[in-house]
Amino acid sequence: MTVRSAQGDYDVTPVADAASFSGLVRDLDDPFVAIDARVAQLHPQIVSGIDKARVYAIPATEEEKTLAGVERLSLFLQERGASKRSALVVIGGGIIQDIGTFGAHIYYRGIPLHYAPTTLLSMADSCIGAKCGVNLGRYKNQLGFFKSPARVYVWPRFLETLTPDDVRSGLGEIVKLAVISGTASFESLERRFEKYGAGLDAIDEAIFSSLDTKRRVIEIDEYERDLRKTLNYGHTFGHALEAVTGHEVPHGLAVAWGMDVANYVALRKGLLPESAFARIHRLLARWFSLDIKHDYDAAALLEGMRRDKKADAATVTLILPKALGELQLVKTPLDEALGALVADYIKEHDIFRKTR
Ligand SMILES: NC(=O)c1ccc[n+]([C@@H]2O[C@H](COP(=O)([O-])OP(=O)(O)OC[C@H]3O[C@@H](n4cnc5c(N)ncnc54)[C@H](O)[C@@H]3O)[C@@H](O)[C@H]2O)c1
Ligand SMILES: [Zn+2]
Repeated sequence: MTVRSAQGDYDVTPVADAASFSGLVRDLDDPFVAIDARVAQLHPQIVSGIDKARVYAIPATEEEKTLAGVERLSLFLQERGASKRSALVVIGGGIIQDIGTFGAHIYYRGIPLHYAPTTLLSMADSCIGAKCGVNLGRYKNQLGFFKSPARVYVWPRFLETLTPDDVRSGLGEIVKLAVISGTASFESLERRFEKYGAGLDAIDEAIFSSLDTKRRVIEIDEYERDLRKTLNYGHTFGHALEAVTGHEVPHGLAVAWGMDVANYVALRKGLLPESAFARIHRLLARWFSLDIKHDYDAAALLEGMRRDKKADAATVTLILPKALGELQLVKTPLDEALGALVADYIKEHDIFRKTR
């Protein structure tokens, strides 16, 4: 698959095994590797053919996803003699992707970035689209830019060491992209869940079909002026839940929950037919349920949305579906009426269960 980008088109290449990946890396001009420390431990064969002095292991923490973390990576590159001609190969999930992309973009004003995603979320979604952000102070993803990779490598065997909730988290974004894509994609996901449940069977197909949906959106609107905003479907409510529950909920599960809330709001506003709400709710409730220790209510969630960087104090732009494959941006006041809808959702439909 090739993604067209204003910064230069790039390929997403399936990788057959660790040895062929090592071969691809060694063929690059003066390659250096930044790898998730946990992935390096779990999949040592992926870097076994690469000179150890060129491999930098990074802990996947939000504290490392900062300018200080980027500086540590840059110092490593400098100490090991990386030059303008060097390439940076980044292996890891979204955290390592953000640190590595930031570093590759600023080191000597930019060196080529090669990326091998290792979580389902990064493999099916964030590895294309060129977005990059690091945290500033208490807030996430405040500093960033768009930088396209030179190439993306997809090796689904990485996914075998993920926890079941990490897999479900990635599947949450896959459902999001299927709803955005339309009835045919959603139907094929329904069949997939029916047949295999929330596991990794036939995952390659789900990954590439999600990437293809995302590709179609970002090729039209790479810099998120309008259409690309639909990719934030489920994220306004999802981010608020992540914040309110102290990040107890994995991102993609929060997005699944956020989609269900958005759908409910769309239903109550008369945008989404009852049958479409029920159909998507059935799938989300069956495969994306979660027991939550933190308490949360509509008031706290609205406060969380107020603080989210995409919202100014008084209104929020919700991405609401009218049907499968048809989403609308709706500017909505962050007021009691919205709070009441969220409260009704939590009372009557919540796919998560509060354990206290
Ligand atoms: N740049 C973008 O477009 C973009 C998009 C979405 C999310 N993000 C960012 O990505 C981060 C979340 O990324 P994520 O969910 O991909 O995961 P992650 O990078 O946060 O990693 C999650 C955990 O999984 C571990 N891990 C990674 N690969 C593994 C594997 N194959 N086997 C076992 N464990 C593995 C990591 O060490 C870590 O403990 C957030 O910081 C988010 O802001 C960026
Ligand atoms: Zn997301």
